[in-house]
This record gives sequence, C-alpha cells and structure tokens, in this order.
Amino acid sequence: MRERCGEFSSCHHGWKNFSANLINPLGSREFVSARLITHSKAPVPPRWRADVERVLISEEQLARRVKSLAREIEGGFRGRELVVVALLNGTVMFLADLIRHLNLPLRLDFIGVSSYGLGTQPGELTFTKELRINVRGRDVLLVDDILDTGNTLTRVIAKLQVLKPRQIQTCVLLDKPARRTHQIQADYVGFEIPDYFVIGYGLDFAERYRNLPFVGVLHPRIYASAIQPPVKK
Ligand code: PRP
Repeated sequence: MRERCGEFSSCHHGWKNFSANLINPLGSREFVSARLITHSKAPVPPRWRADVERVLISEEQLARRVKSLAREIEGGFRGRELVVVALLNGTVMFLADLIRHLNLPLRLDFIGVSSYGLGTQPGELTFTKELRINVRGRDVLLVDDILDTGNTLTRVIAKLQVLKPRQIQTCVLLDKPARRTHQIQADYVGFEIPDYFVIGYGLDFAERYRNLPFVGVLHPRIYASAIQPPVKK
C-alpha cells in the first residue's frame, strides 16, 4: 500500500528534479540508461482517464520485456533449480507473466511484506507472511514489482541471507533510482523509470489500480485529494 503523505510530496518534487536532469543530463548513471522509459504512445483507455494521466508502459511493451527478462534470468541460472521468492502484493501480475516464460525448474513461495502497518515507523516493515520453502543451499530469485528507496529489498535480502541460500539474485519490473536511499541494485530490471507515481500491473495507490493491464502515471489530483491518512492495517 503505497499511500504515505511524505511520499506524495517527495514524489511530486522528485518529478520536477527529474525533469531538470533529463533536460540537462550530466552523466549521472541514474538518469542515463538504455532501459529508461519516460513515455508510451499508447492512449489511456477511456475507463481509466479520470485517474490515469498517461500510460507509461503499455501492455505490449510489458509483454515483450517480461519475455526477454525471462531469457536473461535463464542465462543467469543456467542448469540450476530455482526457488522463486515473490513479495506480496505488488508482484502478482508481473510474477504470473514472468514465471510462465521461465524455462527452468522452479519452486515458488511468497513473503508478505508491507512498508505500512500498525505502529510502524518510516522504513520499518511489517511481515504478513513468512517463507515456507527451505532455501538453505538453494538458488533464490527474489522478485518484486518496484525498487524504489531500496528499503524493502535490502531488509528482505538480509532476512533471507540468515537462511543460508546458495545465492540470491534479484529481479524487479521497475527501478526508480531517483528515490534510492539504500545502496542496492537489482540483478534483473525490466524498466528504469523516472520519479513518477506509477500504478497498474500490480502496483497500487491505496490498494487500488492493481488490475490495470498497463503501468500508468497516477493523475496528481488523485493523490492530492487524499488528505486523510491511510487506514492502517
Ligand atoms: C511497495 C513495492 C515494493 C516496495 C518498494 O510495496 O511493492 O515492495 O514498496 O519500495 P522501497 O524500495 O521504497 O522499499 P508496498 O509496501 O507498498 O506493498 P504492496 O506490494 O502490497 O503494494
């Protein structure tokens, strides 16, 4: 549930900062990447026009990239059996599409984690479901929808390392390096994106919009009008 007042403002300001960097690229790695996607020509479907400002990544772009990501992962784990560990809830669509294209033997498990929960401080995580498969000595592919500050992946990797897997590689659909506060990079990245508030294809705003088949930019008036603090779970 990515509904935090602090996040609205930093997201909004970050957007402006990003635009400046885009116009005057100074060689910062975060802002110059072959995978960087800043827009899509696809129109917003009429039923979503009130909420979605524009499509950032279309259904077709997602489908193509997820397939090629699967090929990259196969190359990285050649000859190995995987334990795919996916983080709930945002990974649902990406995960389902990714693993159906993965030609590797694999087992699947989930960790429930939220950066928002009762009594949590900023940066604190609530674990709502623990891993059930024993990953000791195993090759783990950790899958998340978005790498933002890096807090979630950093904490989850530390938690998994205690279980002594053979290796952990990470795969995210979206990477938003402009907001990174932890030193972490994913091994496999679908798309690098600017500091936009994105929804759809599993990503939410206040638990809504996960069912959009594309990744869109949330209309600023939607989060600007969310003056109530989020309902704590
Ligand atoms: C979102 C997202 C990532 C995390 C990334 O999870 O799914 O797991 O935030 O942010 P970070 O890099 O700043 O830690 P969220 O807690 O919103 O839960 P969700 O997956 O249920 O949407």
